[in-house]
Amino acid sequence: MTKQQLKQWISKVPKVELHLHIEGSLEPELMMTLAKKHQVELPYANIQQVKDAYNFDNLQSFLDLYYLGASVLKDEDDFYQLMWNYLLKCKADNVVHAEIMFDPQTHTERGVGFNVFMAGFKRAINQAKQEWGQSCLLIMSFLRHLSEQSAIETLQASKPYLDDICAVGLDSGELGNPPEKFTEVFKMCKALGLNRVAHAGEEGPPSYIWGAIQTLDVQRIDHGVRSAEDPKLIEYLKQSQLPLTVCPLSNTKLKVFEHMEQHNVLELLKLGLMITINADDPSYFGGYLNDNYFAIIDYLAIEENQLKQLVTNSFNASFLTLEQKTKWLKLIDQSCL
Ligand code: ADE
Ligand code: ZN
Repeated sequence: MTKQQLKQWISKVPKVELHLHIEGSLEPELMMTLAKKHQVELPYANIQQVKDAYNFDNLQSFLDLYYLGASVLKDEDDFYQLMWNYLLKCKADNVVHAEIMFDPQTHTERGVGFNVFMAGFKRAINQAKQEWGQSCLLIMSFLRHLSEQSAIETLQASKPYLDDICAVGLDSGELGNPPEKFTEVFKMCKALGLNRVAHAGEEGPPSYIWGAIQTLDVQRIDHGVRSAEDPKLIEYLKQSQLPLTVCPLSNTKLKVFEHMEQHNVLELLKLGLMITINADDPSYFGGYLNDNYFAIIDYLAIEENQLKQLVTNSFNASFLTLEQKTKWLKLIDQSCL
C-alpha cells in the first residue's frame, strides 16, 4: 500500500483522540477576534504575526504563548466557540470519541469560574452529540507549576461539575515539578471515583513516569516517550499495557525530537507498548489528529498492520465502556486496509 493509500484509510476510519488540550486548539483567528471583543492587548498586530510567533525551543517557550493566548477566553460564548470549533474538526477527521483536557486554573486564576467555562463546553458538546452523535469526555488537568494546595482548591471548586468530568490530569512545565508533588490531590480524586492521567516523560526523565505510575496511580501516561531510556520501565509498560498518548507533531515542535524521522513512536510500538497517536495542542503545533497520523506515515516506515494497531489502541486506551469499545472495534476490523 502506498503512503497516499494509508493516508486515505486513516482519514476515513473512526478514531479516538485521548490527548488534546482544548486551550491548545485556540486558532489565531479566534484569538484575535476575542482579543478585540474583550479589549485584551496581545503583542501581535495581525494573524500572521501570531503564526510567526509559533517557533518554540522547548516546552516552556510554548507554554508562555499558550497561557497568553488563553487570556482572551472570558465569557461562556468564548468557551462554547472554542469547543465547538474543535468538535467540528473531530467530525471532519472522523474522531468519533474525544477525551478532552481543560486547565481550570488557567481561567480561575484570571477570575473566570467553573460556571462560565463548563457551561460553554457543555453547550458545544451537547450540540455536537445531538447533531452528529459526537462522543466526548472531559479531563480536568491540574497545572503542575502551581502548588498542590491550588490543585486541591480546584478540585473543591469542581465538585458541582464532577458528573461531567471523567478524569483528572497533570500538565504544564514538567521539569522541577515531579508527580510526587501531587500525591494527596490524586488520592482525593481516586477516592471520588475519578480516573487519572498525567503528563510524564515529555521533557522529564523516566523517574517521572515511574512517579506517575507508583504515586499517582495513573491509568495512562501522556507523552511518555522518554520511557525508551529505561529498559525496566519499557518492560513494565509492555507487561501492564499502560497506554502512552504520544503526540508526534508536538514532540518535534517542542524539540523533544529534532526531526520526525528521529521520533521513537514506531520503536515503542514494535516493543509491544500500548501506543496511541494524538494532537496535544493542534493550533500551536501545526495539525489536528489526522495530520499527526500523516506525519508518521510520511516520515516513518510504518506498515498497514501497525497503523491499524494504533487506531485499535486508541479505542482500547480510552475510558469508553467495554460495550462501546467492542462496537467500534468491530467496525475497524471490517474496514479493509
Ligand atoms: N499544556 C498544554 N500542552 C502541554 C504539553 N504538551 N505539555 C505540558 N503541558 C501542556
Ligand atoms: Zn499535553
